[in-house]
Amino acid sequence: MDKKLINERAQAAPDVDGITGHRRMRRNRKAEWTRRLVRENHLSVDDLIWTIFLAPGSNVQEPIDAMPGVYRLSVDKAVEAARRAADLGIPALATFGNIEQDLRDETGSNILLAGNLINQATAAIKAAVPEIGVITDVALDPFTSHGHDGILRDGEIVNDETVAQISRAAVIQADAGSDIIAPSDMMDGRIGAIRRALDEAGHHNVGIMSYATKFASAYYGPYREAIGTAGLLKGDKRTYYIDPANAAEAVRDAALDVEEGADMLMVKPGLPYLDICRALKDAFGMPTFAYQVSGEYAMIKAAAANGWIDGERVMMESLLAFKRAGCDGILTYFALEAAEILNRRG
Ligand code: PBG
Repeated sequence: MDKKLINERAQAAPDVDGITGHRRMRRNRKAEWTRRLVRENHLSVDDLIWTIFLAPGSNVQEPIDAMPGVYRLSVDKAVEAARRAADLGIPALATFGNIEQDLRDETGSNILLAGNLINQATAAIKAAVPEIGVITDVALDPFTSHGHDGILRDGEIVNDETVAQISRAAVIQADAGSDIIAPSDMMDGRIGAIRRALDEAGHHNVGIMSYATKFASAYYGPYREAIGTAGLLKGDKRTYYIDPANAAEAVRDAALDVEEGADMLMVKPGLPYLDICRALKDAFGMPTFAYQVSGEYAMIKAAAANGWIDGERVMMESLLAFKRAGCDGILTYFALEAAEILNRRG
């Protein structure tokens, strides 16, 4: 380039120091050491709760179409998975069962069986890997013949009867060794009722992680395939889950759960609801978790499988986003993969 042209270009450049008053954001970004120094949020293995699916039988490891890398595990395999998770430093697991179809009925009565799939898995995991936390969901949907989270009568999901049933189920899950009860059904009054039931049964140390703000979301699709409710569900869950349009209502709903005695709050789904994570953390200062749900997992895996995104980097970035939004941790199907990467980084 000739000298004249270089001069003209230089003159054409705007007076950036004049514009910014000599402030340049890029100074702190110039090298890896300074980027590390100013980094505000970190993801660690301590932040991960691994969500796993259970299947009846033994030595079973069934793939789930829309969730490559995720399997339904029989109890023996779930125990092995728990061992691996604990060895990687993952603090807790959350279990979800694919209950045999002929055990499902109108009221989800199998949830009250001490020896059901969920409780068997809890007892086996706690016996073999006592150092890992076990979180169990008490919603009825894996147990009902209609796929709803509550008892269905004359086309209505009846609130109070459902609360009675899941409170009893919560005590049975705690008896089996569950450390934290996580009700995902969104019935009114469930947190207080479960707290009373647990305390009456002497389970003062069993915590409650409320699915405080659970939205009526389309992101749950692959989960319903995984636990066999996809073909069963009649209608939708909009009479009990929160409308995805509503943020103020979500905060109010969470406030009730806090008053009723929840120990921890959860936002679900995760990434599309980061504003809710931040709102809950700011409003209550409670331990706050996000559930990165099956559809979120499926989207990342599908795009990565097509070579359209760098799956590993998108996974880690998505998990970090929850920390930035104020979450203390994340329930995620990626937990094992992410923990391996975090441990490699040291
Ligand atoms: C229902 C329940 C759902 C999930 C966990 N428990 C939602 C539903 O089926 O309506 C979704 C989890 C996921 O998508 O990963 N109690």
